[in-house]
Amino acid sequence: MIIDPILPFVKTLLKKTISTGDTVVDATAGNGHDTLFLAQLVGSSGHVYAFDIQKTAVDATLLRLGDLRNHTTVIQTGHESISKFVTKEISVAVFNLGYLPGSDHSIITRPATTIEAIEGSLHLLKVGGLIVLVVYHGHEGGNLERDALLDYVKTLSQSTFQVLKYEFINQKNNPPFVLAIEKIKQNYNDKQNLLHHSFG
Ligand SMILES: C[S@@+](CC[C@H](N)C(=O)[O-])C[C@H]1O[C@@H](n2cnc3c(N)ncnc32)[C@H](O)[C@@H]1O
Repeated sequence: MIIDPILPFVKTLLKKTISTGDTVVDATAGNGHDTLFLAQLVGSSGHVYAFDIQKTAVDATLLRLGDLRNHTTVIQTGHESISKFVTKEISVAVFNLGYLPGSDHSIITRPATTIEAIEGSLHLLKVGGLIVLVVYHGHEGGNLERDALLDYVKTLSQSTFQVLKYEFINQKNNPPFVLAIEKIKQNYNDKQNLLHHSFG
């Protein structure tokens, strides 16, 4: 196939953006697949901060990481608290929205907290950095998050961010799509935030 399916497309974006030694965020650790991929890309000189509200997810992620735990911090809390835990500039934040496969389908990511976490990540993001969201919207409540996110990302200033939607539009059963936000210019507020974290 010439056109990359959704997940290979995301992996290509991450490989293009992340360098050894970077600090990155997995905002929805789940079973740890993305956390592991990020930990491999940043290497032992980099760091991954991974968030999930469920203990099962944190345990599964730590198990999958094995030795790569040394340069990963897995935190059992909502990603809306990202800026309390991450105080360094990041090159990437990944969000895999929806519910944990094989677990309780009513524990899902929610519009308000997802948007709060994106805003926190945008402030930490370096120029040339990327926020990648894989938007699953076929489950109950998924349509609300999808619509809120699309409304929100359209409001981001085009002088500071490029926003991409990557979607197959002839597939059945609400397939996931990707939103990618690249920071192309620094904001004055971002520098103030990082300074506040460093010295505050
Ligand atoms: C689709 S799964 C993530 C899959 C994961 N990326 C993987 O590789 O297996 C979504 C995850 O988001 C988590 N989640 C829901 N609300 C959250 C929040 N406010 N903060 C962090 N994680 C949240 C769920 O517990 C669930 O594990």
